[in-house]
Amino acid sequence: MTAETSALPANLPIGVFDSGVGGLTVLRALRQALPAEDFLYLGDTARLPYGTKSGSTVARYALQTTRVLVDIGVKMLVVACNTASSVAMPGLCAAYPGLPCTGVIEPGAAAACGCAPRGRIAVIATGGTVRGAAYQGAILRRRPEATICSRPAQLFVSLAEEGWTDGQIVTDIARRYLDPLMAEFPEGGPDCLVLGCTHFPVLARAIQAVLPEGVRLIDSAETTARWVAEELAARGLLRPGSDLPGAAGAAGATPGPGTVPTKGTVRFFATDDPERFAKVGEIFLGESIRPADVSLVDL
Ligand code: DGL
Repeated sequence: MTAETSALPANLPIGVFDSGVGGLTVLRALRQALPAEDFLYLGDTARLPYGTKSGSTVARYALQTTRVLVDIGVKMLVVACNTASSVAMPGLCAAYPGLPCTGVIEPGAAAACGCAPRGRIAVIATGGTVRGAAYQGAILRRRPEATICSRPAQLFVSLAEEGWTDGQIVTDIARRYLDPLMAEFPEGGPDCLVLGCTHFPVLARAIQAVLPEGVRLIDSAETTARWVAEELAARGLLRPGSDLPGAAGAAGATPGPGTVPTKGTVRFFATDDPERFAKVGEIFLGESIRPADVSLVDL
């Protein structure tokens, strides 16, 4: 444990950010794994998409969003955006050396390697993530013999933000992206397909439907949540009650005095249109979000 980390109180929230609502798929897994923890979630909706922007711009945005969360007070940062995870981690670690911090690419790569008996791994992500080849690096460090083919699938971000998760248009776009990607692999296709963007899991059913049989979908959310739980435990930063798996309670409920919290709170922030964030965000979070619980922030 670093000197700075030991000064962080365990009752601070965990900070999570993404370019928009996609990172709510990670928040959902985090809340399931760590029901007693409080969270701050920031969606940089004013500047979405990140995936079409240059690495230096996204790295700058990531520092700005993190600054907001750190100023409020967080004990750990989760970069719930693959595009930002692929370019911003060194800058974030340098700016906040005492703050435990994880992205989603390393956990996603670890999960993919565990589901690839033949070492054949396909990746779809934003243009920025594919350009930066961060998944290749993270996978090859674990499985140097792996065959990895990647493709940008940026339109999936727009579909997901629009709340269009099924239907003919989604199927047609999925085929257009995935048929050529599958054809890059030898007979039988890949072992798994990494959903290398936190917006993509809400399209999982439509994506799975156009894949050859047996190709497993990898969503880094659950692995990330496990990593966060382990990291907090290792640093003695778990909130009391976090070790009670399956603890239930209403979202946002405040525990009574002297009781162990069983369900932490979430405060949401968006850089544009909080109402839209609440409406579309529900699909990703899997629980309702009241517009009144989403605050507008200016970076
Ligand atoms: N959800 C983000 C990711 O995981 C970014 C999508 C975008 O803003 O282009 O990469």
